[in-house]
Amino acid sequence: MRKLLIIGIGAGDPDQMTVQAIAALNRADVIFLPDKGQEKAALRHLREAICARFIEKPRRSVTMETPRRAEAGDDYRGVVDDWHARIAASYAALFRLELAEGQTGALLVWGDPALYDSTLRIVERVRAGGLALDWEVIPGISSVQALAARHRIPLNRIGEPVLITTGRKLAEGLPQAPDGVVVMLDGEQAFAKIAPEGLEIFWGAYLGTPDEILIAGPLATVSDEIVRVRAAARERHGWIMDIYLLRRCD
Ligand SMILES: C[S@@+](CC[C@H](N)C(=O)[O-])C[C@H]1O[C@@H](n2cnc3c(N)ncnc32)[C@H](O)[C@@H]1O
Repeated sequence: MRKLLIIGIGAGDPDQMTVQAIAALNRADVIFLPDKGQEKAALRHLREAICARFIEKPRRSVTMETPRRAEAGDDYRGVVDDWHARIAASYAALFRLELAEGQTGALLVWGDPALYDSTLRIVERVRAGGLALDWEVIPGISSVQALAARHRIPLNRIGEPVLITTGRKLAEGLPQAPDGVVVMLDGEQAFAKIAPEGLEIFWGAYLGTPDEILIAGPLATVSDEIVRVRAAARERHGWIMDIYLLRRCD
């Protein structure tokens, strides 16, 4: 049977690779590297740097072209489902072609594979589509952990829960509870569109990379600054990944 190692590689700093992730990389016969186009070239370079630094003996690497997602419109789930079906079909064809029976392939997943990443769902679809596969998941340092570490804060208040959500969901309104909300995948700066009174924000972009930016403070005070700094950084680099914790002030 073919086997896949789905390896969390950390959220931007190669030093976040765990001992387990490095060992897994070195067990693979083939390394599959996703190519999500121009905008994500910087992320591809980081994956390549990780391979160059941690793989002891040369391994074959294969680029995986990832089909583009259609505009989401009103039917977000339908569009994502269709997109995943297309990715699963193209990955199945690639695994059949590039991975022999009995061989092991590695997929390098940004951050942790369990958090806002569809690789595990897609591998499940590939298997359900008829390709016999075994797979193992190696956890990684997520951007949520990197954010908390760089701001030197705990995510939760004592005994309290934290919600991890998306900018799309926050745009529908700040939930009354829990008190702490971590927001990822926010291309629309949803934090700038909610009433800021009584809230503080801990924001980070390009965490773990040489371009890292951190801003924290009362939302009413720093919201405009984050919008400005974010827009300038996005313009300068051509892409941005940012994440933040919002919580009610003590
Ligand atoms: C598709 S999700 C992947 C999350 C990943 N699996 C993880 O564990 O962090 C991408 C989102 O993660 C966040 N993110 C990932 N890496 C980041 C980084 N280095 N700096 C800031 N945000 C990051 C951003 O919110 C980005 O929109």
